[in-house]
Amino acid sequence: MSSQTISPIPGQTTKKIEVALGNRSYDILIDSGLLQHAGTLISQLRPDVKCSIVTDENVAQHHLAPLQKALSSSNIPSEAIILPPGEGTKSFNALSSLVETLLSHEIERGDLVIALGGGVIGDLAGFAASILRRGVDFVQIPTSLLAQVDSSVGGKTGVNSNYGKNLIGAFHQPILVLCDLDVLTTLEPRQFRAGYAEVVKYGLIKNEEFFTWLQTNRNEIYALDKQSLTHAIQTSCSMKANIVALDEKEHGVRALLNLGHTFGHAFESLTGYGDKLLHGEAISIGMVLAFEFADKLGICKPSETQKVTAHFKAANLPTRIEDIPGAQEFTSKMLIEKMRQDKKVERGDMVFILPHKIGKAVVTRQISEPTLHDFLEEKLAIS
Ligand SMILES: NC(=O)c1ccc[n+]([C@@H]2O[C@H](COP(=O)([O-])OP(=O)(O)OC[C@H]3O[C@@H](n4cnc5c(N)ncnc54)[C@H](O)[C@@H]3O)[C@@H](O)[C@H]2O)c1
Ligand SMILES: [Zn+2]
Repeated sequence: MSSQTISPIPGQTTKKIEVALGNRSYDILIDSGLLQHAGTLISQLRPDVKCSIVTDENVAQHHLAPLQKALSSSNIPSEAIILPPGEGTKSFNALSSLVETLLSHEIERGDLVIALGGGVIGDLAGFAASILRRGVDFVQIPTSLLAQVDSSVGGKTGVNSNYGKNLIGAFHQPILVLCDLDVLTTLEPRQFRAGYAEVVKYGLIKNEEFFTWLQTNRNEIYALDKQSLTHAIQTSCSMKANIVALDEKEHGVRALLNLGHTFGHAFESLTGYGDKLLHGEAISIGMVLAFEFADKLGICKPSETQKVTAHFKAANLPTRIEDIPGAQEFTSKMLIEKMRQDKKVERGDMVFILPHKIGKAVVTRQISEPTLHDFLEEKLAIS
């Protein structure tokens, strides 16, 4: 993995991170104005392609026309498929109709699917690309902060099942990721904050210095200051790229990216994966719980937990189970049941990512259910 500066846009310096995966390596570019230059950037990689752009209604409203203009000015023919926004679009039904539409657009093996949207569109369009004609290439143009720092990088694609989230899918790496900072100006602040929780995660799992930098620079990031936002996205993407290059299919270190997610997924499942609780909000609470749990187990100091909680609070993110709408109905049994259904269960053992300190998390399978039960009982009694 390497991070460099290039100048594909006259007068600007663009950050470039390479995701090193042999012949499936690709670049992540981070800058403002990338959407307007998407045509040039794509035609350099794949001259003479045809594209289908997959997007959602919210994103299309602001960002589809500039992308289409950029493609046509580089003589790249494109058609757009605009889907309803929201997690419901990450379904088998939506996948099936998307693949049929892509076929009706005559997207061939050498053509491209472009995912223009948040994680929902990226996961769905990427999965569609992976199965269309046994695999066509795709480009990620992530438009939410969460998608820019997390879901667009690493090649996990898929849809949800009645049995749970992301249970149907494939590893399919994009050939290019364009993180255009300008698109974030139209993102709702609550969605931006939810994406920020994933940014903080990178500091907590492996990079104390980054966490300290975030403590000082969060206001600038929230104000979309270009330099600070670039640093936050670049550091997050570099760390993800590094981890993915070491462990593409999550047999080891990639699991660290799930800090706070075992708790978080249980909350999302109990609240129905919707507006009540966004993914980033769920893992904000989940990460605080992971610190509190580590604290209870005696492997992490309370002062670390306090720092993490204070940062999420300052970032206007939820930190307690009681912050979740409907939390008074939760029982530890319900939560543990949901945690067991999470895909991070291996041969019956729940896999936990637990911090030893800020910047150092470890993967553990040593947690007994009674210990977890006692901890959750304590937390639920407080709320
Ligand atoms: N593949 C992975 O590695 C990975 C990692 C993390 C999360 N995910 C998945 O990502 C999804 C969540 O992603 P998300 O938070 O981006 O959700 P999302 O795609 O639903 O986007 C959130 C909302 O913001 C809107 N939006 C997006 N960009 C916008 C913009 N620039 N302007 C205005 N509105 C905009 C969308 O229309 C939607 O309403 C989940 O399905 C999750 O499972 C995947
Ligand atoms: Zn996440």
